[in-house]
Amino acid sequence: MSKVVGFYDSGIGGLPYLDWLKKHTAGCSFRYLAESRHFPFGTKTEPEIKSIVIESIGRFIESEHPDLIVIACNTASVTALASLRQKYPIPFVGVVPAIKPAVAISKKKAIGLFATNKTVSQLYTQNLINTFASGCSVSKFAMPEIVAFVEKNIFTATEDEIERIITPAADFFKEKGVDTVILGCTHFVYLEDTFKKVLGRSISVIDSREGVGDRAIALLEKIQDHADDAKGDLFFVTSIEKMPGNYKGISSRYGLAFGGEI
Ligand code: DGL
Repeated sequence: MSKVVGFYDSGIGGLPYLDWLKKHTAGCSFRYLAESRHFPFGTKTEPEIKSIVIESIGRFIESEHPDLIVIACNTASVTALASLRQKYPIPFVGVVPAIKPAVAISKKKAIGLFATNKTVSQLYTQNLINTFASGCSVSKFAMPEIVAFVEKNIFTATEDEIERIITPAADFFKEKGVDTVILGCTHFVYLEDTFKKVLGRSISVIDSREGVGDRAIALLEKIQDHADDAKGDLFFVTSIEKMPGNYKGISSRYGLAFGGEI
């Protein structure tokens, strides 16, 4: 008996989120869909992102029949989550910037948001800030090169290369005097350790893994077990031809077999 949990991102960003849930739950099988055909999302327009996400999630549901889908991408969540919920009658958990937890731990009430261009400029994000961070300063930083770097090079890059790519972001947040930085792009979770090192001990770095995982677990508890489809944990792409990185190697690090195209 099992439940099938789907994860979706423009690329590999959702894998650390899947990993968290896998370690904190039992009796689930996992299906991951990387939107390799349209990577990256962060520099696209709202209508583009919406139509890509709605189309791919439709195929994902048809092919894998997930009981729940985690949109493990801040950009897709702040842009398309409402449309997805309107269109498909299955539960979705969105990954959005951890504004509320950041405000709770920030002593200086000065927080940083490190995300994609789209996430920092989207109205959904501004509403989160207005709701949970009024009276707090929020400094936002986006740099598309970092998303592409993570997607293509994170498992082959040297520590020096990683430090070099994140230095402009770290300098920006230090200069703004923030004491808490939100990793508001799932790709940036891969940079967490180096980012913490470069920022220094006085700045906390947080993401949404725990909040998202807890929400997924609460929803999964309400879903009926059904017969296991015995396919195991699988990693799919929307285009094999357009895979930006070594997806077969990367997905196997997370215990997923490569399932091909959806
Ligand atoms: N991983 C994604 C996010 O959380 C998007 C990266 C991109 O495709 O630009 O925003």
